[in-house]
Amino acid sequence: MFKKFVTGAAFALALVPAASFAAGGEGHIEDFAFSFEGPFGTYDQNQLQRGLQIFTEVCAACHGLKQVPIRTLSDEGGPGLPEDQVRAYAADNFEVFDAALDDFRPATPVDHFPANTALGAPDLSLMAKSRAGFHGPYGLGLNQLFKGMGGAEYIASLLTGYTGETKEEAGTLFYENTAFPGGWISMAPPLADEQVEFIDGHANDLHHLAEDVSAFLMWTAEPKMMARKQAGFVGVLFLAVLSVLLYLTNKRLWAPHKGKKTS
Ligand code: HEC
Repeated sequence: MFKKFVTGAAFALALVPAASFAAGGEGHIEDFAFSFEGPFGTYDQNQLQRGLQIFTEVCAACHGLKQVPIRTLSDEGGPGLPEDQVRAYAADNFEVFDAALDDFRPATPVDHFPANTALGAPDLSLMAKSRAGFHGPYGLGLNQLFKGMGGAEYIASLLTGYTGETKEEAGTLFYENTAFPGGWISMAPPLADEQVEFIDGHANDLHHLAEDVSAFLMWTAEPKMMARKQAGFVGVLFLAVLSVLLYLTNKRLWAPHKGKKTS
C-alpha cells in the first residue's frame, strides 16, 4: 500500500517536467531586479520616462498601445510628466484620424496611443500582464512572491535573448531567441547598445534599455499598481488592529465566567 503510494507520487513528479517539455520548449526568463517588485515596490518615475522614450523612438514603429490614454502620462505613480509636456508629446509624435474632421490631426492628451499592427506586431498595452515570467513550485506562487510576477522580466529577457541565429521559413525570417516560447520569433532584434540617447546621459547599453522599456510596459499594463499596494497595506493594517480589539473584547466578555466551576 505504502509502496504503491510512493511509486505513484514519483511517477506524478516525473510527469511534470515531461509535460512542460512537451508543451514546446518554454523560454528562459532572467530575473531582473525591478523597483516595483515585492509588496512595497514602487515605479521609478525616471525609469518610466526613459521607457516611454524608448517605446516612442523604437517600438512604436510597429507596436500600438491602444488601451493607454496619452493623458495618463501625467498621472502620479506613472511617468509623471507635466501636462504641457504631455500635450507637446502627443502633438509631436502621433496623428489620429478624426471622424468629425474626416481627416488626420495631431493627437491630444485625450486620445489614446495609436493602434499599430505593422508586420503583425501585437498591441503592447497589456503585454506585461499577459505573459508570465516564472512558474513553480507548482501552485504555491512562491516565485511570483519573491521574484515578481514576471511579465516585465519576460519582455526584458525577450529583448536581450537574441542569439544572432536566423532561419527562413515560408518566406519569413525568424530570429533565434532564448526567451520566446518555441525559440524562434519573427521580430528582428529591436534594441542594441546605445540605440537611444537620454538627455541626462543615463546608461544606454542593451541591458538597461531593455529593462527601462519593460518597466514602462509594466506600468501601461498596471497603471494603478502603487495605489493597489497602498490600499492592500492599509487593509492589512486595519485587520491587524481589528484582531487586537476583538481579542481584548473577547477576553473582557468572558472574564466573569472564567475560572468558575460549572457544577
Ligand atoms: C520592426 C517591427 C518591430 C519593432 C520595431 C518592434 N517589434 Fe516587437 N514584435 C514585432 C512582431 C512582428 C512581433 C510578433 C512576433 C512573433 O509572434 O513571432 C513582435 C512581438 C513582440 C512581443 C510579443 C512576444 C510574445 O511573447 O508574443 C513583445 C513583448 C515585443 N514585440 C516587444 C517589443 C518592444 C519592447 C519593442 C521596442 C523596444 C519592439 N517590440 C519593437 C515587430 C516589432
